[in-house]
Amino acid sequence: MVYGAPRTVRDHVLYVERRLKAAHVAFGHGTLDVRDEAAWLVSGALKIPPDRLTAKLGEVPGRKAVARIRTLLAARIRTRQPLAYLLGEAWFMGRRYLVDRRVIVPRSLIGEFLPEDGASPLADPDIRSILDLCTGSGAIAIAAARAFPGASVDAVDISQDALKVASRNVRLHGLGERVRLIASDLYAGLEGRRYDLILSNPPYVSTAEMAALPREYRTEPALALEAGPDGLDLVLPILRGASRHLTDEGRLILEVGASRESLEARFPDRPFLWLASAYDECVGYWHREDLSDFANDE
Ligand SMILES: C[S@@+](CC[C@H](N)C(=O)[O-])C[C@H]1O[C@@H](n2cnc3c(N)ncnc32)[C@H](O)[C@@H]1O
Repeated sequence: MVYGAPRTVRDHVLYVERRLKAAHVAFGHGTLDVRDEAAWLVSGALKIPPDRLTAKLGEVPGRKAVARIRTLLAARIRTRQPLAYLLGEAWFMGRRYLVDRRVIVPRSLIGEFLPEDGASPLADPDIRSILDLCTGSGAIAIAAARAFPGASVDAVDISQDALKVASRNVRLHGLGERVRLIASDLYAGLEGRRYDLILSNPPYVSTAEMAALPREYRTEPALALEAGPDGLDLVLPILRGASRHLTDEGRLILEVGASRESLEARFPDRPFLWLASAYDECVGYWHREDLSDFANDE
């Protein structure tokens, strides 16, 4: 098929889409398909939020914007870096976050349970203290602080590099009074602290899955993904330690990805409650009293 040179913003989106498709670029870092990725790339080049692109589709972009589209497209195809790294920003639950290769691109399904309109299935005015374990860019901690305006949030990561990025995001969102960043190996630095809600999207990619990941994922920090032969290296200690750090009515929300299978196989007699999200069912929900068994499992 022969195509003319792209003229309007719409033409550019379609052009980028064709090029990305032909290059077999992989998605999953903020978009799930080639059309969304192309639209995001063009909106990034136009320096507008992705949700403002539709209104501009009929416009003709200026020369500098066209040059930025070409540069971004070439870099995306050549380096296979997620678009978020090339743009230096990611969108999570409709909000902008600063990202670079020190953190994974935020995309946790936990975001779905943290809407800002108070409609969260977890909504509970009694939630005053929240822990985001393995915070990375701080996106979940910040979304939680917005979803629970009366709560304070501790955000923990073992990586000083990640905490530097999280700190920029906490400042960007003006939440320095309510989101505290803590360097800690899981619960090690949290002695005596208890929370009404623990949220965690830890590393959970098994060794076999790591070997099969597209190149895009290899540009993310391995520390944020790798979790041993069954993907449970972090999930199990999080489950075991949670009851010691939850208040009596406290709850744990833990994303486990494909390691859900290993987890269920390891505890065949234990019922699990998986929250239904738009794309997958791999976010577990536990009340504190359901976790004491794990604490005794060590
Ligand atoms: C999958 S990323 C999640 C980041 C962020 N919560 C998100 O959803 O975008 C996991 C994070 O866990 C951190 N991490 C890895 N091992 C850890 C440990 N033992 N204690 C605390 N954080 C750890 C990594 O540095 C990384 O930032």
